Amino acid sequence: MTDCLKNCESTVINECVPVDLMCEYATDPLGIDIAKPRFSWKTVCNRRGMKQTSYQILVAKSLEMLEQDIGEMWDSGKVESGISIGVVYGGKPLENRKCYWWKVRIWDEEGNVSCYSKAAKFETAFLDASEWKAQWIACLITKPGSCMFRREFRIDREITQARAYITGLGYYELRINGNKVGDHVLDPGWTDYTKRVLYSTYDVTNNLKIGMNAIGVILGNGWHCFSETEERSKCIPQMLLQLHINYADGEEEIIVSDRRSGWYASSDSPIVQNSIYNGETYDARLEKTGWDMAGFDMNGKDQGSWDLPLIVEGPGGELRAQALEPIKVISDIKPIRVTNPAPGIYVYDMGQNFAGWAKIRVKGDRGTVVTMKFAEVLYEDGTVNRENLRTARQLDTYILKGEGVEVYEPRFTYHGFRYVQLEGFPGEPDINTITGRVVRSSVEPIGSFSCSNTLVNQIHRNVVWTESNNLHSVPTDCPQRDERLGWLNDMTVRAEEAVFNFNLARLYSKWMDDITDAQGEKTGAITDVAPFIRYGGRPADPVASSYLIFPWLMYLHYGDIKVIETHYENMKKWVSYMSGLAGEDYIINYSRIGDWAPPFAQAIEGSVGASAISAITPGALISTGYYYYNAVLMAKFAKVLGRAEEAVEYEELADKIKEAMNNTFFDRDTNNYGPGNQASNVFPLYLGIVPEENKQAVLDNLINDIVKNDTHITTGNLCTKYIIEVLTEMGRVDVAYALVTQTTYPSWGYMISKGATTIWERWEYVTGGKLIEMASHNHPMYGSVGAWFYKYLAGINVNEEGPGFSKFTIKPYMPDGLDFAEGSVKTMLGVVLSRWKRNDKALNMEVAVPCNSTAKICVPVPGDAKGKFIIKEGGRSLWQEGKFTGNAAGVAKAIEEDGYICFETGSGEYHFECIW
Ligand code: BGC
Repeated sequence: MTDCLKNCESTVINECVPVDLMCEYATDPLGIDIAKPRFSWKTVCNRRGMKQTSYQILVAKSLEMLEQDIGEMWDSGKVESGISIGVVYGGKPLENRKCYWWKVRIWDEEGNVSCYSKAAKFETAFLDASEWKAQWIACLITKPGSCMFRREFRIDREITQARAYITGLGYYELRINGNKVGDHVLDPGWTDYTKRVLYSTYDVTNNLKIGMNAIGVILGNGWHCFSETEERSKCIPQMLLQLHINYADGEEEIIVSDRRSGWYASSDSPIVQNSIYNGETYDARLEKTGWDMAGFDMNGKDQGSWDLPLIVEGPGGELRAQALEPIKVISDIKPIRVTNPAPGIYVYDMGQNFAGWAKIRVKGDRGTVVTMKFAEVLYEDGTVNRENLRTARQLDTYILKGEGVEVYEPRFTYHGFRYVQLEGFPGEPDINTITGRVVRSSVEPIGSFSCSNTLVNQIHRNVVWTESNNLHSVPTDCPQRDERLGWLNDMTVRAEEAVFNFNLARLYSKWMDDITDAQGEKTGAITDVAPFIRYGGRPADPVASSYLIFPWLMYLHYGDIKVIETHYENMKKWVSYMSGLAGEDYIINYSRIGDWAPPFAQAIEGSVGASAISAITPGALISTGYYYYNAVLMAKFAKVLGRAEEAVEYEELADKIKEAMNNTFFDRDTNNYGPGNQASNVFPLYLGIVPEENKQAVLDNLINDIVKNDTHITTGNLCTKYIIEVLTEMGRVDVAYALVTQTTYPSWGYMISKGATTIWERWEYVTGGKLIEMASHNHPMYGSVGAWFYKYLAGINVNEEGPGFSKFTIKPYMPDGLDFAEGSVKTMLGVVLSRWKRNDKALNMEVAVPCNSTAKICVPVPGDAKGKFIIKEGGRSLWQEGKFTGNAAGVAKAIEEDGYICFETGSGEYHFECIW
């Protein structure tokens, strides 16, 4: 046993070992509230073709038990299954607030059993909401600034463990004995608080000490009180806290937020104003030094007024443990230059447009007011241009206390910016005065891509930045103006790029809940934005199909079935709502968004979104197309869930919509859909509804239109994704590549030629004028092209038959002019890698297939070599004179397909060489 464990910790030759154990997509999660959590693991193995055939999981209450191979909570026994993602806990009921240890061993395809993995753990929070004894508390006087709470308590003996469970609306910061607890910022994640409120769990064992202790909590307005003009009574900042202290003698003490037990509240905080959109004002002169420490004198001079807190009803939503990754400060950015465009005005160029805030170091007289204005672009005179922020002020103000070097960064706001304009600074600031703080949901980046074209690399980089700038517990549309909302429209096309670049399993599960929370209970209609706030209506425009696209992508990329199970009935309701909209002719005429924000010349001038509605693409074609897409996805979900009859019903529905679309929009004489513009022709091709015999002619029309437009797209946010992918799939990667690498307007290259470090909301470069109302420079929807880099240039493709990359295809497309590309994705099973390089004589392809996975690896056949080529793997012949010679280990068979020779392989690292 000991030897085996030792083996698991070292590299094992010829033995396969389960590693990287995850529970609910997290390593050793603290504070989950799921009664039957899911387990996943990867396998490492030094040989090819590893397949898991069985597993055994042990779950124990202690590490000691587990080390004796006893799973008293759950011993799954040997389960014959190849599944290593999302195995659902099947043991005794879990208890509240307990830590459990688990490990797994596996059997491979030859029946060899591995040793047990290293132990992993998970800890429950409140599985049962009645465990919450705390009360929601607020400040007696609600000022626009922030509310602070404090409570002292004594610890008189040794403690073994302490946990704090807390939530605070809009945002909270928890402090114990003078220090911030944990590294979450802008916590909790944003939800519709009347439906669900997320709480976090912190291990505070080491924050406490024997003797007197103090807890301090500061609240910010966040999304709860996002409007500073809104009546305060509607959005009282409030918090809920429960601290469990376990003593060495076995006793437990619980400290809860309430009005009786020594809590005090004050709204005399140094944060005198805070707003997500508008920024924060911090008056350091109002700091109450020591307020979060024991012994603070609440009656002391200038220590503010402290009263008993107010008990409030709470927002009403169900309390749920926050399962998604908290928002954190991810990294720091140093400015690349500072200019002084006018007396007393300093402008910092951070070199990158990003979401977060700035930290400032300043020394000066008490009462000096320093402001930081955040912006994405500059005026010609070098000062910040903030016209595109609409009403969002994005302004942080710091008022000095005058005590040496003061360091400030805000707590309850964030901005989208590249430039910071510093005003009122005492003396002359230098490049080190300001540091950029990148802030987002701390999801794991999992993708990498690069190729031999520097423009393509730059577009990829801009896409990744833009995506990451828009992950703040919901996938937002932008991080700067008075919006920052989870638009389902944008996600319809953006999501696939996102799942390649980040592990969004937890964030998307949470957002699916947000969408369901906003769904009309009776009608089933969903909303355009979730959480539902401000803009966007109900029913959503059918372009909000991300509701179904998400679960499908999560199934394909992360092997997640639960998200389909959980939301299946609600998705059904939404599709039946759409059926109501469509009526008997299966055409949905309801459209408010359509193929949004195409180049200005294609749009209706003066339409909503500052001329964002397409003047050409029929809204009904887009809406009905998405209705079809939804029916197809419902059929797939029904199949995954084993609901065969419903799958057939949805397939029949899809067929009827397809027929109706072709009857209504397709002209068989001209081979055009609708008016025959790019979007109208490409969407049906993407959906696969074009009659077989007309496909080529529709494609020809599409290409003619692209040529007519001098190799430019005329599409909006949705069809831009489709045009690039359809062209590639249909044999015209040359045209797709030309569009992607275009540098004149409208194109991604044009954005970059204007200095963009992120992707814009529209194709135009807008810094003023009539389009300024909708001119975000950090908007991920056109970043949808990011999926193309992975799927086509690197050629990494999921396979429906093998969710979670348990089966996948590598099929790179190699446009002329590109001689190298490489992409990799850290999947739930391990790293998938595809790297190719070619010259006039040979092509080299390296592929990594994780353990417990199989791949179809397609090596492109050189166009003019006509059978006169050979393919080797690791130096051994695999394909010669038109035949599979099959000499390499792990490569099962080969077939010729669409100009590729495709090999079926098991796990392992492969090096193919095609020589002609
Ligand atoms: C958002 C878009 C969104 C659109 C739909 C805009 O204000 O920023 O990304 O899709 O509205 O109407």
